[in-house]
Amino acid sequence: MMLGFTVTQSIGAAVRLGIPDLVSQRPRSTSKLAAAADADPDAVHRLLRTLASLGIFTEEGGSIHHTSMSELLCSTAPASLASHSLIFSGVHYRTWGGGLETFQTGEAAFPRVYGAPFFDWLAEHPTEGSSFNAAMAAGATVRGARLLDRDWSGVSSVVDIGGGTGTALIRLLTKTSGLVGTVFDLPQVRQEALAAIEAAGLTDRCSFIAGDFFTEVPSGADVFTLSNILHDWDDESASRILRTLRPAMTPLSKLLLLERVVEPGNQPDEAKLLDLHMLMVLGGKERSESEWRDLLSRGGFDVTHIEAGLIEARPV
Ligand SMILES: C[S@@+](CC[C@H](N)C(=O)[O-])C[C@H]1O[C@@H](n2cnc3c(N)ncnc32)[C@H](O)[C@@H]1O
Repeated sequence: MMLGFTVTQSIGAAVRLGIPDLVSQRPRSTSKLAAAADADPDAVHRLLRTLASLGIFTEEGGSIHHTSMSELLCSTAPASLASHSLIFSGVHYRTWGGGLETFQTGEAAFPRVYGAPFFDWLAEHPTEGSSFNAAMAAGATVRGARLLDRDWSGVSSVVDIGGGTGTALIRLLTKTSGLVGTVFDLPQVRQEALAAIEAAGLTDRCSFIAGDFFTEVPSGADVFTLSNILHDWDDESASRILRTLRPAMTPLSKLLLLERVVEPGNQPDEAKLLDLHMLMVLGGKERSESEWRDLLSRGGFDVTHIEAGLIEARPV
């Protein structure tokens, strides 16, 4: 576990060298991969031997082939994890270098390490901003699947608050004719979101509104979704978002949160690792069922359903 950083950086290096995409073109030896990636053959051999020992790539008959895990690192894989690996081995790797002080003070490491809050910094660093948006879009494909199998009859409008580049909403609108939607997010996301909406042929049913969810959000929709938003924020900030949202809803509007629910007990749980990551980056947190109920109740909502990945609430 203490060598976990070697795994993070090895995956990041393989992606930066373009090795997953090269293997997709055709399996080949580590020396040929190193030549194609303009890298050192011995170091690439040792990198891929290590990753293969973890199930990421496999070496057979002198050639490197994909496994189900290494395929996820290809830039064209559905829900590709390539952008996640860039973010975790790059920006966030340095964030965690300031980890100890976060545990001493309870304050996020990111602003201390980078000199600005995370989303402000992303606005000033478009390359990292695009990697972050791509990573969120890939994750939203998985998270947003929870929306697709719901019954949308009787619902005519959806606003996805902090909807990023629109991945989840675009998939929902593509599947559900008659539904209109709005992606609400920061101005820095506008261009990529509009391009995605246009590429999906949804300009007549899907719009993008830029704004700040601490100030005002579009009002009156039947359903409001918040996917991976409240976990970015501490209780005070998350309450502020809910208090901004509450007056924008009609008495019959529904709130759908696509969020993790931390399980009690000692068992391994991705949500517990991400909880620390949210603390480091934004001072945010993953929440247990009782913490979700408390937060929503303080924001003026009743929880009507809660399960891992999906919380439904309605305005009181
Ligand atoms: C963790 S991402 C989640 C994106 C998307 N909902 C998903 O599930 O992948 C958080 C999103 O919140 C947006 N965001 C951050 N601060 C915001 C603010 N003050 N107002 C509106 N959107 C904001 C970010 O730009 C980003 O797209």
